[in-house]
Amino acid sequence: MLSGIMATTQRIPVAILGATGTVGQKFIRLLEGHPLFQVHELVASPRNRGKRYLDAVHWHETVSMPDSVAEMVLKATDDPLESEVLFSGLDSSVADEAETAYASQGKLVISNAKNHRMDADVPLVIPEVNSDHLELLRVQKHTGGIITNSNCSTMFLAMALAPLHRRFGVTDVHVTTLQAVSGAGYPGVASMDILGNVVPYIADEEDKLETEAAKILGSLADQRIVPADFRVSAQCTRVPVADGHTEMVSLRFENKPDISEFKSVLREFTGPPQEHRLPSAPARPIHVLEQPDRPQPRADVYRENGMVTWVGRIRPCPVFDYRMVVLGHNTVRGAAGAAILNAEMAHALGYISQGLMR
Ligand SMILES: NC(=O)c1ccc[n+]([C@@H]2O[C@H](COP(=O)([O-])OP(=O)(O)OC[C@H]3O[C@@H](n4cnc5c(N)ncnc54)[C@H](OP(=O)(O)O)[C@@H]3O)[C@@H](O)[C@H]2O)c1
Repeated sequence: MLSGIMATTQRIPVAILGATGTVGQKFIRLLEGHPLFQVHELVASPRNRGKRYLDAVHWHETVSMPDSVAEMVLKATDDPLESEVLFSGLDSSVADEAETAYASQGKLVISNAKNHRMDADVPLVIPEVNSDHLELLRVQKHTGGIITNSNCSTMFLAMALAPLHRRFGVTDVHVTTLQAVSGAGYPGVASMDILGNVVPYIADEEDKLETEAAKILGSLADQRIVPADFRVSAQCTRVPVADGHTEMVSLRFENKPDISEFKSVLREFTGPPQEHRLPSAPARPIHVLEQPDRPQPRADVYRENGMVTWVGRIRPCPVFDYRMVVLGHNTVRGAAGAAILNAEMAHALGYISQGLMR
C-alpha cells in the first residue's frame, strides 16, 4: 500500500504524549513498523518521569509491548523534547497548556484531546472529508502547529454524514450513542457501575457531537471555517462493550435521496488519503452492511484494521427521512489511528518535511 516516495523516505522521529494511556498505547501499537514515523520519545505525567516504560505502564493492548519502547525512559510534559512531531493522547486536564507550549516551541502537535478542537485557527480534520482545512496551519498563531482529530463518536458520525451532506444536504440529525468502556481511558468507569448496566451520561460528550461535526463539514473561506448548516441532537450512553462506539442515527435532508442513492453515495465515498495511498488509509472509509443485525462491535469493529466506519440498517424513518446504525473503533479510527492518518495527510500535502514544518 505504500507509495514509492514514502517507502524511500527516512523515518521521522516522533514523541508520544500520554504514552501510558489507552490512546498512547494504541499509538505505540500502530506506529510499530510505521513506514514514515518512528517512536523516539515517550511522555507521561511527572509521577512517571524517569521510569522505564514497561515499569510505568499498565499495558492492555492484546499484542505484546514492542521491544523498541519497553526500555525507553519516560519524560514529563515540561521536559525538553528532541522530536518535532508529537502525537498527543494527553488527558484533557493537561492537554491545553502542554500542547500550546509545545506548538509555541515550534513542534507540530497532532492531538486527540478536546481542548483545541474548536479553536478558530486549529484544523479539526478527518482527511477523507476536510484535508483542505489543514491550510489553517499557515495562519495559526503558533510557530509550530496543532492539528486535532474529533471526539471518537463524532468521527464516525461526521464520516457517514460527509458524503450524504455534500450530495443531498443534511438539515437535521438525531444520534444516540452506545459507547465502549475503552472510550473512558484507564481505569475508566468502575466495573461496579458498568457491568450489566447502561450509564446514560458521559460528561461533555453530547456538546462535542453537536458542534464538532459542523466544523468538520464546514467550508474554508478566507482562511476561516464556516460551519455546516445542520442541527445535531445527541444523547450519549456508556455500555459494557470493550471497544467500538455504536450510534443510532436519524437524518433529514434538503433533497431526500432514494434508498439506493443513499447507500451508493456511502459505498463510493473516498478522499485524499485513498488518492495518496497513505499507509494507514483504508481502501474505502465507509462500508455498508446489508445484514439486518449488523454492524456489531464484536463482529465488525476490529475488521479493516479498525480504520473503517461501518453503516447498517439503512431504512426509512417515519419521523425523519432515514435511519441507520453507525459503528467505529473508538481508540483506532476514533483516536490514535485518526491522528496518525492526519499526520500522514499533513506530510503528503507538504506540511511536514524531515524535521521541519510548513
Ligand atoms: N479513549 C478513547 O477512545 C479516546 C478517543 C478519542 C479521544 N480521546 C482523548 O485522548 C486523550 C487520552 O485518552 P485516554 O483514553 O488514553 O486517557 P487515559 O488512559 O486516562 O490516559 C491519559 C494519559 O495522560 C497522561 N497524564 C495524566 N495527567 C498528566 C499530567 N499531569 N502531565 C502529563 N501527562 C498526564 C497519563 O499519564 P500517567 O500514566 O503518567 O498518569 C496518560 O498517559 C484524552 O484527552 C481523551 O479525551 C480518547
